[in-house]
Amino acid sequence: MDFKLTEEQLMIQQAARDFAQTELLPGVIERDEHQIFPTEQVKKLGELGFLGMMVDPKYGGSGLDSVSYVLAMEEIAKVDASAAVVMSVNNSLVCAGLEKYASEEQKEKYLKPLASGQVIGAFCLSEPEAGSDATSQKTTAVDMGDYYLLNGTKNWITNGSTADYYIVIAHTNPEKKHKGINAFIVEKGWAGFEIGAKEQKMGIRGSDTHSLMFTDVKVPKENRIGEDGFGFAFAMNVLNGGRIGIASQALGIAQGAYELALKYSKERKAFGTEIINHQAVAFKLADMATQISAARMLCFKAATEKDAGEDISLSGAMAKLFASKTAMDTTIEAVQIHGGNGYVREYHVERMMRDAKITQIYEGTSEIQKIVISRAISK
Ligand code: CAA
Ligand code: FAD
Repeated sequence: MDFKLTEEQLMIQQAARDFAQTELLPGVIERDEHQIFPTEQVKKLGELGFLGMMVDPKYGGSGLDSVSYVLAMEEIAKVDASAAVVMSVNNSLVCAGLEKYASEEQKEKYLKPLASGQVIGAFCLSEPEAGSDATSQKTTAVDMGDYYLLNGTKNWITNGSTADYYIVIAHTNPEKKHKGINAFIVEKGWAGFEIGAKEQKMGIRGSDTHSLMFTDVKVPKENRIGEDGFGFAFAMNVLNGGRIGIASQALGIAQGAYELALKYSKERKAFGTEIINHQAVAFKLADMATQISAARMLCFKAATEKDAGEDISLSGAMAKLFASKTAMDTTIEAVQIHGGNGYVREYHVERMMRDAKITQIYEGTSEIQKIVISRAISK
């Protein structure tokens, strides 16, 4: 596999890097401290075409490949992991799901504004009693003829209050188990749709996480995605691609922490020399660089397979499992290399350590990735 980047990919990488430095870096500490959503920055990401990167231009997207997406996600997450998760959900869960599986009418009405960044979307699978165990959905969508009646609660929804359109997974025929699940497009403001309080989080505090409550929400029949009973397959297939996005987010967090630690280790002196000259510090940096490089290769591999139309359940899970561990390991060591300075906000690495943890939890915990990987390799 040849990972030499093309001119276009290098351009996208540079554009994302410039955007992150000029638009995301100023204020990132304050947004984290006060849980402020990066409203203006997300709007600009949309204008730059970063919210529908892989979507066909005829639906308002940028028509780029998945490696470009990995590169851009890494650059954004390197500076602001909260902005990166907004970008990941919109690109790889919402837009990718609609482009691949929605009807032409749904694409015209919903995908175009989402891919062009006029609005953002949310993906609603998790529930109080259905997180890892995603088939045990309690939210119901009863077929009433012209419409479905939606009832239930979704938990932990990223872009929960900032989205305009929500993809909601619900059970229509519980007796059919996961083959009775459907996916629906729900609009903010529909009668019976309520948004709960904002979660107070450890990390990715600039992102907006809420529970959502649905009480007798009427969802028009034409807002179901795909055939009756397709919802769980829809969610799993979309998540396979989503995991590349979160793996790239983890990669960016790791790379950001590594770069700061490397710089600091060349400046800070102890025992008469720069601390990088102490082998214990240099070896930490060597481990970080090696793990990050391997994580990047796994992201590129999964992205390349995705663009070739291959099954990416295995490569996406491997990329996410490895990159999220890399993010955690690297950020912990970056704090260590910074000593006391690592423990305070202005040096950024403590935020990166808090941000890294979520990459081992959402879009399938590390244990779930191991289930996916072990099932695939034992086939
Ligand atoms: N790709 C495609 N299909 C898959 C799949 C995958 N990765 N994993 C499972 N499936 C299919 C199976 O083939 C099966 O379909 P058939 O019956 O037609 O063959 C069906 O799904 C059920 O699979 P299992 O029998 O394996 O079901 P299970 O209950 O034992 O386990 C699971 C399924 C893999 C654990 C799944 O529930 C899972 O992925 N859980 C994690 C949920 C998750 O990732 N949530 C993320 C929410 S979104 C989010 O988090 C966004 C964000 O933070 C930003
Ligand atoms: P549980 O499923 O209860 O798991 C608890 C622990 O048990 C974990 O360590 C898990 O790995 C382990 N475990 C469970 N089952 C097994 C098993 N079979 N074998 C081994 N170990 C197991 N969801 C959405 O749908 N949309 C979103 O936009 C979204 N955004 C999120 C944003 C944030 C900040 C957070 C915190 C969560 C978000 N989620 C979202 C939910 C996220 O996907 C779930 O939290 C995650 O899938 C885990 O589910 P759970 O929290 O119910 O944990």
